[in-house]
Amino acid sequence: MLSSFWKQNKRIKNAGISCLLLVLFSITGCSIKQPRQAAIASAHPLATQAGFEILHQGGNVFDAAVAVSAALAVVEPSGSGLGGGGFWLLHRESDELDIMIDGREKAPLAAHKDMFLDASGEAKKQLSLNGALAAGIPGMPAGLVHLSEKYGKLPLATSLQPAIRYAEQGFKIDTRHQKLLGMRSAVLNQHPETAAIFLDKGRVPEKGSILRQTDLVKTLKIIAAQGKAGFYAGLIADKLVIAVQQGGGIWTLDDLHHYQIVERTPVTGSYQGIKVTSAALPSSGGIVLLEALNILETVDLATMDSITRKHMIVEAMRHAYHDRALYLGDADFIDVPVERLINKQYAYGLATTLRTDQALPSEYLTGHTQAKQGGRNTTHFSIIDNEGNRVAATLSINFPFGAGLVAEGTGVVLNNEMDDFVSAKDSGNGYGLVGGDANAIAPEKRMLSSMTPTFLEDSERIAVLGTPGGSRIISMVLLATLDFAAGYSPESWVKVKRFHHQYIPDQILYEKAGLTSEEINGLQALGHQLKQYYNYGNMQAVQLNKATDSLSAASDHRGEGLASVQRINE
Ligand code: GLY
Repeated sequence: MLSSFWKQNKRIKNAGISCLLLVLFSITGCSIKQPRQAAIASAHPLATQAGFEILHQGGNVFDAAVAVSAALAVVEPSGSGLGGGGFWLLHRESDELDIMIDGREKAPLAAHKDMFLDASGEAKKQLSLNGALAAGIPGMPAGLVHLSEKYGKLPLATSLQPAIRYAEQGFKIDTRHQKLLGMRSAVLNQHPETAAIFLDKGRVPEKGSILRQTDLVKTLKIIAAQGKAGFYAGLIADKLVIAVQQGGGIWTLDDLHHYQIVERTPVTGSYQGIKVTSAALPSSGGIVLLEALNILETVDLATMDSITRKHMIVEAMRHAYHDRALYLGDADFIDVPVERLINKQYAYGLATTLRTDQALPSEYLTGHTQAKQGGRNTTHFSIIDNEGNRVAATLSINFPFGAGLVAEGTGVVLNNEMDDFVSAKDSGNGYGLVGGDANAIAPEKRMLSSMTPTFLEDSERIAVLGTPGGSRIISMVLLATLDFAAGYSPESWVKVKRFHHQYIPDQILYEKAGLTSEEINGLQALGHQLKQYYNYGNMQAVQLNKATDSLSAASDHRGEGLASVQRINE
């Protein structure tokens, strides 16, 4: 609806410009074509450049998304890769299609509910976090092939070229890569194949040293030549299954043969007249985001002092994450009351429990007790062109360098997404997230995610945004959405000072300087527990201003990414 409104306005505006030129130059039958432009923001400069390279070769934004995704798998191997999965949220302007490609990992066929429990029913945390048993069946290669074949203009082999070149020629590693290697080096050192690729005699390599990934080159070339079968059957599939089984895992060739992406209808809603389009299940992202926004629509944030405003946002997060824990899981396996959860009346009911003078203890809500936090992971990129075609993609292998295991001879880093299931009741996962049967492990089920690739649209602007950050992804996108609603630019959304509440643990997590000392004191006086955290997230955002046909882009200063707007050669 809003898109049609924009199109109509754009046509009127373009017609106006055409008429003006017609008069000025006395040309009849001329057609004025806007120069093609695009904006890309990603977590690594080489990935952003890969996207533009493909656009300059005549690709559309979907080809560019294939190129950026594959490039990130090479140049940011800590965050995502062929051994992981993710969600690509697409909008195609010609037919106003909104769709989400669900390339989330699936539990292997031999997986079962209690696979990470010891004899006394306690969770064996290491098994769902590190090594072969932690790995779900990857969806990234199938997602890339589907995105390219169904939505792209160029052959898959062309869109994969930049990634292949980066893996072959190598690239200089940066500080962020070093830091994430450092965090996971003990696990990586347990796997000689992984250590040989990423470490230097067991240590984190010097900044600026060149990382070449020769086995990954071969794998990418096989996928480029054979498409999906290049990964899920044949030589690569054999190597993956052998490596997983030798590492104590349970994958079989059947798991790989069975893997399918799913096209899903995104979750949609509105906040103060802004159309919100976001990730559907098996990501909790869109539902939790919309539930929190619906609750916040009942209060006038703009007129509140900053302590009350932050308190209200925290209370909305608490309720929305509480419902995440109670109800959300893979809707192919369980019934999820999605319509109710994103219904405004439901949120208005929850909002009646909000008090400006007091925090609502999470223990007053039904549910769980465990408390724990952690994790840095995942990646996000955003692309838009001046026609409004766009992609928001959040991709992951979960923890930095996933399960820490590279399948021998493939260069593929395996994910540890099995930890995103609930493996023991009332035991938090690596991000402290709790849940219940809705997110219990079952063969071929997809584990619940927090990834929140999102589009926002009002009468003047279209935004594409998202971020890595585990359970905190949704609260970061929520804060950025409120900033968009307040009229600010992508530069501002990615800079917003971050704070987070996820129901359990019952505490506000805030980044360094995320809250002022006055806000900390004020929130404590309302009954909140607070904990300072590192500066988290790596938001990548782009915007199209419909009125001016101008694009803008911003990459989170907490990361080392690149946001750029370019005119595309045609
Ligand atoms: N692995 C992080 C997420 O999907 O939420």
